[in-house]
Amino acid sequence: MIPFLDLQSQYQSIKDEILDAVTACLESTQYTLGKEVAAFEEEFAAYSGGQLGVGVNSGTSALHLALLAAGINPGDEVITVSCTFVATVAAIDYCGARPVFVDVEPETLNMDVRQVESAITERTKAILPVHLHGQPADLDPLMEIARRHKLIVIEDAAQAHSAEYKGRRVGSIGDLGCFSFYPGKNLGAYGEGGMVVTNHEDYARKVRMLRDWGQESKYHHVLKGFNYRMEGIQGAILRVKLRHLDAWTEARRHHAASYGKLLVDAGLQLPVEAPYSRHVYHVYAVRTPQRDTLQHSLQAKGIQTGIHYPIPVHLQNAYCEFGCGVGQLPVTEKAAAELLSLPMFPELQEAQIEAVATAIHEAAHNG
Ligand SMILES: Cc1ncc(COP(=O)(O)O)c(C=O)c1O
Repeated sequence: MIPFLDLQSQYQSIKDEILDAVTACLESTQYTLGKEVAAFEEEFAAYSGGQLGVGVNSGTSALHLALLAAGINPGDEVITVSCTFVATVAAIDYCGARPVFVDVEPETLNMDVRQVESAITERTKAILPVHLHGQPADLDPLMEIARRHKLIVIEDAAQAHSAEYKGRRVGSIGDLGCFSFYPGKNLGAYGEGGMVVTNHEDYARKVRMLRDWGQESKYHHVLKGFNYRMEGIQGAILRVKLRHLDAWTEARRHHAASYGKLLVDAGLQLPVEAPYSRHVYHVYAVRTPQRDTLQHSLQAKGIQTGIHYPIPVHLQNAYCEFGCGVGQLPVTEKAAAELLSLPMFPELQEAQIEAVATAIHEAAHNG
């Protein structure tokens, strides 16, 4: 049996450090925000090349508050992609704004920058690219368009901790960057967590207030806020895990290279690392029109896989009001029918990668 993700072996490898950090946090009684969260905010913002970090209780909350801090109001339009996890679009909807979808590039499955300019209207306020599967979107041309049209860029970096665009870490290149620390992410909490990273003090200040009931000082509610605070224990755990992130990222990249070598002639479309990017392989997704057959035959051999994501957001029932149905985003729709994510986590063994590759070759041979 080869799991898609193995959180257990990672926990075992750092258990002593984690238990020490959790115990110290419990002893401190700083269970929500507190000094561990403050230290993690500083460390993770710096790690991501940003000046300021504000810890929140999920990546979704990070996106919601980043949009609010950017001044997104009901009726505004935000240009984004449908080839993403639903949270990207939900956060725009939470603000009463309208997501305007553009298609993605066939190779990277990230926002097709060439389509952005024609999607801009007088209501457009922001652009929200997603660094899908851990590969940065093409940010330079996007930033150039945004500056010319006076739009705010919010990066959805939920899957892309430590990914680089032209040598710079993502999350600090746009005006605001949003991270998720959901347990399965490249940097995952033992519960929920998220962060907004920015170089702008006014945005950081607003996010800080909004995550804690809009308070400027205790019981002085300047803004209509939320309870989106990061827990102290998650801050303590994430500080420990951040120290291992470089090694874990290297391991993911090594596994991706192994898959790449072993699957080169397997008849699949393999992920492509764009010349400007350092991909961190949160997801290693291959593509084939026979996706479902391949998934079933791997499952029969005890190999778990995933699909990220089977239905694009513009075709989801909950969000169909923002789409125009099938055929609107052909590249996104084709990808949703063909993507298959193979097991990928730092502790994956070379022998397991070989077993996955052998099973794929056998499936191709029999199919
Ligand atoms: C691209 C993307 N955006 C946003 C989110 C939301 O993060 P969270 O699950 O921490 O709310 C996720 C993760 O699930 C994601 O993959």
